[in-house]
Amino acid sequence: MRMTEFTEQVSAVSELSPAGELRTVVSPQCVVQENEPLSRRTTLRVGGSADLWVEPATEPDLIAMLQWAGDRGMPVMLLGRGSNLLVRDGGIRGMVICLCQPHFARVEVEGCRVRCGAGARLKAVSNEARNHELAGLEFLEGIPGSVGGALRMNAGAHAGSIFDAVVEVRLLDLHGRVQVMSGAGMEAGYRSCPMLRTHVAVEAVLEGRPEARAAIEQRMKEFNHKRWSSQPAAPSAGCVFKNPDSIPAGRLVEELGLKGARVGGARVSMEHGNFIVTEAGSTAAEVLTLINRIREKARSERGIELETEVQIVGEEADQP
Ligand code: EPU
Repeated sequence: MRMTEFTEQVSAVSELSPAGELRTVVSPQCVVQENEPLSRRTTLRVGGSADLWVEPATEPDLIAMLQWAGDRGMPVMLLGRGSNLLVRDGGIRGMVICLCQPHFARVEVEGCRVRCGAGARLKAVSNEARNHELAGLEFLEGIPGSVGGALRMNAGAHAGSIFDAVVEVRLLDLHGRVQVMSGAGMEAGYRSCPMLRTHVAVEAVLEGRPEARAAIEQRMKEFNHKRWSSQPAAPSAGCVFKNPDSIPAGRLVEELGLKGARVGGARVSMEHGNFIVTEAGSTAAEVLTLINRIREKARSERGIELETEVQIVGEEADQP
């Protein structure tokens, strides 16, 4: 090779954007994009962009991405279905990984156990369990999330939480090293699983118990009816606050007279006081102002310190 050709090749490589560089170390089926608006990746529909948005096609791709980011000191965040997330208007620096490709969305029944990829929808898991006459996973039916997000938050509804059913979880650390842990060994609490702050769940095995399909179907219908009759259909991130010990947060917000309270396009739902719903064009700043208004009133009038259940991430927008 002549020297000029060599120099041209070197400069071509070094001029690659981060996305271009990352594409050279993963399979072509991966999605790698810069400046991906997260308002279209979250159910609340607000917030800024991710510097780098990636969808690995396989586990080796995911490992390569984690190592690539680690080598550059780039922060990494996992995003499931974005149903419990408030992204600030300045967006997220670093890499946001979404396990939404088919490899991570598998749901396979093996006897009384359901093996599911972290990207599988919770609805798909509960449907598959019902199809195989396995009870105990009906409560997942209406939670608008993925298995990975549900594990991270120990998501729950109707008095059940996902870790009640978890037998084991396959995890990667941020260097891409694989580990399998028992559900009991992961110390999940109310809406939290501390281990998943520093590890990525790629697969979980859940356990059900045999029961006739009709009985399971009936409970799923009841849960579905309860949800749609008490929770809003407008864009939201589910319950905003954790329930304090003394009173459910939704009832507290109602008693404080804050149902319907509005900041710009963000408003407290009239259907359920623990939901904030957004209109097209709303901003994360509006949602955050409303959250703070609720917290201040709960503190000053009732002495209750409300803690957010929604995960708040990213940076403030630059002031104009
Ligand atoms: N309530 C009111 N006013 C309201 C809302 C609720 O008085 O505006 C009362 C209800 O009548 C009920 C009590 O508060 O007596 C509890 O309400 P609900 O049954 O709706 O349950 P929740 O505690 O508000 C929890 C989960 C939900 C889950 C439901 C259904 C938390 C923070 N929330 O809500 O999860 O869907 O149970 O089981 O634990 C989520 O995690 O995002 C979420 C929405």
